[in-house]
Amino acid sequence: MELQQTVTAAYSEKFNTPPPLIVQAPGRVNLIGEHTDYNDGFVLPMAIDRGIWLALRPRDDDQVVVHSLDFEETAVFSLTALQNSKSGWAEYLKGVAWALQEAGYPLRGWEGVMAGNVPKGAGLSSSAALELATARAFQQVSGFAWDAAQMAKLSQRAENKWVGVNCGIMDQMISAAGEAGHALLIDCRSLESELVPLPPALDGSGTAVVILDTTTRRGLVDSAYNERRQQCEEAAAYFGVPALRDVSISTFLAEADGLAELPRRRAQHIITENLRTLNAAKAMQNADAALLGQLMNESHASLRDDFEVTNEALNIIVEIAQGQDGCFGARMTGAGFGGCAVALVHEAKVDGFVTAVTHQYHQQTSLTPNVYVCQPSAGASVIPQN
Ligand code: GLA
Repeated sequence: MELQQTVTAAYSEKFNTPPPLIVQAPGRVNLIGEHTDYNDGFVLPMAIDRGIWLALRPRDDDQVVVHSLDFEETAVFSLTALQNSKSGWAEYLKGVAWALQEAGYPLRGWEGVMAGNVPKGAGLSSSAALELATARAFQQVSGFAWDAAQMAKLSQRAENKWVGVNCGIMDQMISAAGEAGHALLIDCRSLESELVPLPPALDGSGTAVVILDTTTRRGLVDSAYNERRQQCEEAAAYFGVPALRDVSISTFLAEADGLAELPRRRAQHIITENLRTLNAAKAMQNADAALLGQLMNESHASLRDDFEVTNEALNIIVEIAQGQDGCFGARMTGAGFGGCAVALVHEAKVDGFVTAVTHQYHQQTSLTPNVYVCQPSAGASVIPQN
């Protein structure tokens, strides 16, 4: 609600009339299924109640004019003469315009104001939120049908080819297709998805998803990420399949001996993580918070030992979280190498959990974590205006 009011007020002041159109798209947290998306595997993220909001109106020409309240900057570009200036937030909007036009969507210009509250650089997909909010804006002013998977693919293409970041499909898919109250099991090969509810605690109370930002950031994340992708491709080639998604655990156990140690450990993570993710979705459907938590803990161990994408801060905060009363499970989330962990916590124990984790993490690292208790929220959407 808050950001809706912010963009409405800013728009009204700028244009002397209330906005005819408001769209939003969320950031995300991944419950389980890490680094599996670019292996054609399974992921289980949820959209969070933090996102990017745009208040806008169509224009009669091919110009897009957007004022960002966060950057205190106005971006102006022409849809018929898109130019890549290689840096800055406007490239995400231009990239989406480029990808939509390349795919044959005729676009119309628009103007408006934008604000967001996804922390940037924390691994909560502020860039996917920006891409999908932009796609929603174009869809509304240009009048084509909203196909969530197609919009996710084109937004990913914008990020890969226009912005130059080699991400998988998870972040864009959940920002496009999330639904309130649910996480989404996504098959990253077919892009079919299935809604799954957060499980209640044994006593029937709710559970909460708590994001714990270690506040550590590592440089060269892109090159470490690309190196993992290559190691996974090497392993898939060894097994003679298009992606590690196609290797069963029994094939892996029977045939992995001939594979070099590093790609073998990477493959072991991916193959077991796909199984954990499918089991986690079942656990959620069966209202089994304890099993979901256990699978999250196992996922962290696998990301730490086999995939090697955690850092010390992540390992410390996850261990502290796992040791708290009322915590079902915790793990690093997102690309890793710093950034955030996610924990599933008994709703009635959240306050004590947050206080204890913050205190103990500070004691061990001298750092103060940023903590976000999140609600599973809707994907890219249009806010009705009367
Ligand atoms: C980043 C990427 C995603 C995914 C995760 C790891 O968030 O953008 O596509 O690969 O890392 O699961």
